[in-house]
Formats: sequence, C-alpha cells, structure tokens
Amino acid sequence: MKNILVTGGAGYIGSHTVVELINSGFNPIIVDDFRNSDPLILAGIEKITNKEPLTYKIDICNKEALEIVFKENQIYGIIHFAAYKAVGESVEFPLKYYFNNLVGLTTILECMLEFSIENLVFSSSCTVYGEPAGVKEVTENSRKVKPSSPYGNSKLISENIIEDTFTANKHLKTICLRYFNPIGAHPSGQIGELPHGKPNNLLPFVTQTAIGKHEKLTVFGRDYPTDDGTCIRDYIHVVDLAKAHVKTIKFLENEAEGLNDAFNIGTGKGTSVLEIIKKFEKISNQKLNWEFGKRRSGDVIEIYANAKKSFEILNWKAELTVDDAIKDAWNWENTLKKFNR
Ligand code: NAD
Ligand code: WQD
Repeated sequence: MKNILVTGGAGYIGSHTVVELINSGFNPIIVDDFRNSDPLILAGIEKITNKEPLTYKIDICNKEALEIVFKENQIYGIIHFAAYKAVGESVEFPLKYYFNNLVGLTTILECMLEFSIENLVFSSSCTVYGEPAGVKEVTENSRKVKPSSPYGNSKLISENIIEDTFTANKHLKTICLRYFNPIGAHPSGQIGELPHGKPNNLLPFVTQTAIGKHEKLTVFGRDYPTDDGTCIRDYIHVVDLAKAHVKTIKFLENEAEGLNDAFNIGTGKGTSVLEIIKKFEKISNQKLNWEFGKRRSGDVIEIYANAKKSFEILNWKAELTVDDAIKDAWNWENTLKKFNR
C-alpha cells in the first residue's frame, strides 16, 4: 500500500482527501499542527473509514521535525495542502502568509530532493487567473495575473517555485491543482469545514446565518454586469475535489517521465450569489435573512472553469451538484450544533 504524505490533512479539503485516499487503497499519513483544524475531524475520518491514519503534529516549516516523518516512512508522494488561506487576513498580515505558505512549500520541496520523493500535488487556486479578460470560462492557458491579495500571490509564487524546482530537477513529477470554490461537506456528516471566527466565504456564512450564529448575510454588490447583478463562481463539492487528488496520484503512477503541469478543478458551471441563496432556501426549507451591501473590494465579477484538460488527462470530472453540496453543508452545520460548535 503506497504511503501518501498529506500536509494539512486535518483541514477542510485535506480531511476529505484522506478519506478518498483510504477508499482508493492508499495509506495517507497526515502532517498537521492543528493551527486551523481540530482533532474532532480525525475522529470523523475514523468513523467514515474505520481507519486511523498515522498523524504527526508538526509545523511543516520546521525542517528537522519534518525530516523525521521521511526517515520513519517510505513516502510515495506528497499532497501539500498546509497553508494559510484567509484573503482578508493576508492583506493585513502579508508576512505571516508569505512565511507560512512559501517556507512551508520550500521545506517540502527540499525534503523531496533529500529523500528522493518524485511526486507532488500542490493546492493552487483559480485566484491565479484574477478577473478573466473577456471570456469568463478559463483554461489552464488563460492569462495569469498577480492576484490582488498576498494570499493569492503566495499561490502564484508557489506555482513558480515548483516550476523552477522542476526545471532544475527534471525527474520530479509535480502537479498544481487550481481549485475553484470548494463547498459542502462529507455526506456522512462526520467531517466538514470548521471555520475559525467569522467566515469570509459565502456558503459557511449562509449556513451559519441560517442556524443563528449571525443575524444576517450581506450580499456584496448588486450592480455587477451579470444577469442578476451578483458575482458568479464555480462552486465545487469538496468530495469531488478530494477525488481529483486521488485521480492525480493515479495519473502520476502511470507517468514514466518527470513533468510539471497544472489542472483546473471546477465543474465548468457558474452560479451567482443570489442563486446560491435561492437554492439554500429551497433545500433547507427556510428563509434566509439577507440584504444587499456594498461591493467587496478585490472581488472578481465572474469566473468558472474549463475542466476539459482534467477530464482528458486525469480522467476526473465533477459528479456532484451545487445542490448536493448545499445539502451536505447544511447537514454539517446542523451536526456542529450538536457538538456546540
Ligand atoms: P484549512 O485551513 O482547513 O486546512 C489547512 C490545514 O493546514 C489546517 O489543518 C492547518 O492546521 C494546517 N496548517 C497550516 N499551516 C501549517 C503548518 N505550517 N504546519 C502544519 N500544518 C499547517 O484549509 P483548506 O480550505 O483545507 O485549504 C487547503 C489548501 O487548499 C490550502 O493550501 C488553501 O490555500 C488551498 N485552497 C483552498 C481553497 C478554499 O476555498 N478552501 C481554495 C483554493 C485553494
Ligand atoms: C463568493 C461570492 C462574494 C461572502 C475566495 C478566495 C479564493 C479561494 C476561495 C481560497 C463572492 C460573495 C461572500 C459574503 C457575499 N480561497 N459573498 N457575502 O471570493 O470567490 O474566493 O475563496 O483558498 O482564493 O479569494 O469566495 O466564498 O469569499 O465569495 O456576497 O458574506 O460570494 O462577494 O461574490 P471567492 P467567497
């Protein structure tokens, strides 16, 4: 059974990926220092899979500590999730973001070279495309722009660091997955997102408002040049996103030569903020308290994925719908209530 090191494996996307790796016969080894996650999630992984993945509570920027993991285990590949991800916070504390996201990545790359590990899957983001010029459906070859936040920029710089490391070490097999907007939770209700503090992302704010944690949702902007005046995103179910990582590892297993490539991981469909609210109200059978507010600075107006390359090369496509994701996110929010979260 191949060992896959999953940095940030106790986090939102990491935990769902750990489950899918186990379901597909891989042995995930988690490295996470729980700065943005909770041991509750490990219990959830165990309930779903009946397996308790080996977990190291380590800061990935601490190279000496990380080396122990490689000495103790033969690692086939790394899926690197561990990073900070709050856009607004990154504007306030850019160095905190550049340090964790870039030192974390370079430490992982150094260990790959030191311990002769070839395979890396990196969590990138559609933020590297910025506001698409003209067509809103972006391919992997669409123009990349410097993202407006330090968080987004750390993802663009990370992609460049990986490319340069590959250029100097052509035996490496490195893949950047550019996620669109991950939402939802595991349908079992055992794992999901645990946003610390007030969430910035739309769906956690919707479910938290509906359950009474916030008085109302503000819809940022009503006069964008879209059909209903609100922004459009490509929302992807986190379980589909998790499966994309497994497909990527399987693809790497079949590649003899080194490579560096990037793939869009999205559904190919755009949904507006108002459409999300309408869907949520229908699925939860309750009215949401919301109002229009000012535009949020830095928001992209409209973007969605062209995910053909992922289908043709990774044999991956999204199978779940936005409705499935909203249903599972709402189920998860109700589960959290039982844990007093
Ligand atoms: P998350 O915060 O839930 O998970 C990240 C995990 O990494 C957490 O468990 C945290 O404790 C851990 N971590 C962070 N820094 C660490 C360090 N130095 N050492 C050890 N552990 C550390 O975030 P997520 O939503 O699961 O995102 C995972 C990855 O996907 C991130 O790289 C993020 O930037 C990227 N991404 C996320 C989204 C999104 O909307 N959630 C979109 C695009 C890309
Ligand atoms: C979606 C839409 C908001 C909250 C961000 C990062 C990106 C990636 C995913 C992670 C927008 C609107 C939101 C609210 C609202 N991050 N909204 N009221 O902005 O596409 O992407 O998260 O790694 O890099 O930039 O996602 O969920 O914040 O917003 O009206 O309270 O919902 O304006 O149109 P976004 P989001």
